[in-house]
Amino acid sequence: MDKPKAVATTTAGLRGVAAASSSISGVNGEKGELIYQGYNIHDLATKSTFEEVVFLLWNRRLPKHDELDGLRKNIAASCELPERIVSLIKGIPTGADAMDTLRTVFSALSFFDKDSRNLSRENSIRVATRLTAQFPTIVAAMGRAREDLDPTRPKPELNIAANFLYMLKGKLPSDHDARVFDACLILHADHEFNASTFAARVVAGTLADMYAAVTGAIAALSGPLHGGANTNVMKMLLEIGEVENTESYIKKALFEKRKVMGFGHPVYRTEDPRATHLRQFSKEMGEQAGNTKWYEISRRLEDIMLREKGLRPNVDFYSASTYYMMGIPLELYTPIFAVSRISGWTGHILEQYADNKLIRPRAEYVGPRDLKYLPIDER
Ligand SMILES: CC(C)(COP(=O)(O)OP(=O)(O)OC[C@H]1O[C@@H](n2cnc3c(N)ncnc32)[C@H](O)[C@@H]1OP(=O)(O)O)[C@@H](O)C(=O)NCCC(=O)NCCS
Repeated sequence: MDKPKAVATTTAGLRGVAAASSSISGVNGEKGELIYQGYNIHDLATKSTFEEVVFLLWNRRLPKHDELDGLRKNIAASCELPERIVSLIKGIPTGADAMDTLRTVFSALSFFDKDSRNLSRENSIRVATRLTAQFPTIVAAMGRAREDLDPTRPKPELNIAANFLYMLKGKLPSDHDARVFDACLILHADHEFNASTFAARVVAGTLADMYAAVTGAIAALSGPLHGGANTNVMKMLLEIGEVENTESYIKKALFEKRKVMGFGHPVYRTEDPRATHLRQFSKEMGEQAGNTKWYEISRRLEDIMLREKGLRPNVDFYSASTYYMMGIPLELYTPIFAVSRISGWTGHILEQYADNKLIRPRAEYVGPRDLKYLPIDER
């Protein structure tokens, strides 16, 4: 049999391939630049709020007062969970992986939305608002269930960042912690075609509903090469334990050809602009608590990785010590990534629905051809 005409050249991991166009966010890996709908991440992280960024990602422009108030009101109105979802969270074995829990609980949310299959923009915005409002409630309830505590009811008057910290700990956060966490949510909100967003778009491209697409995204985020890196960064910092152990620990890891979590990026060739802010937050949180050890170990690690491998920290590296100093349990770091990234995932799903084309690439077949089929007894 003739070999069919070759498909376009393959690129391992689709590196450098633009799989579709999008206006939601853009990354310039050479310049270390990230923009959301035209706005530089540095401006958004220092001047904006997560709610404002959510509106921006979904609507291609910043909100006016009444629009932001409307979004806040809708979020506040839908942040409570159905009772049976709360029971499901409580019923999951305590030792279960937090991302497995999030995936399962999130997927079950669709049972409580009768209009989930309506993919019109109006209804999709309603679903996106509901999901953005309920993710923090789910993750906080999961965190408490792991410690055998009942969930804290959300306080609708708080913004998403403050409400999450309040629900998780059962007490109001300081203004500083709430502002730092809000900026962390902004920094993690979107990053063009990262693995979980691409997974969401592939599922949405089949015209499956938003719950299905986000469940796929959560699954992709759970891997250690994507969102799972932040928890592993903190485990590593705890293993290192003291600044003076850093050099020997990293040299051993590199000698054993282990990947050091929180370093490297498929796109950035210079500083990840999100890491610039997170490094500062890690320092501030350490200073506020009178314990800068995790920040100092991280700084040392950063110097060694640059010297030894030419690699720089990514978004997961300093978020680990920032969340640790905020008193957030390690297992929740990746679910927290999802509390923010739900805004980008839903933005991309809206964009996909608005101009849909089934995503169906080709595979370059490299297996054998023309083999003769032998009945099982003759093999
Ligand atoms: C993010 C990541 C998957 C990007 O990968 P990539 O661009 O495809 O790069 P590769 O995995 O092919 O690595 C290229 C080279 O750099 C090395 N490298 C990349 N990241 C490394 C890391 N974190 N620690 C040690 N070495 C690393 C690889 O071992 C490889 O070296 P080699 O050519 O000698 O084999 C990768 O850097 C990684 O696994 N980082 C750790 C996990 C992480 O922090 N993920 C969060 C991403 S935001």
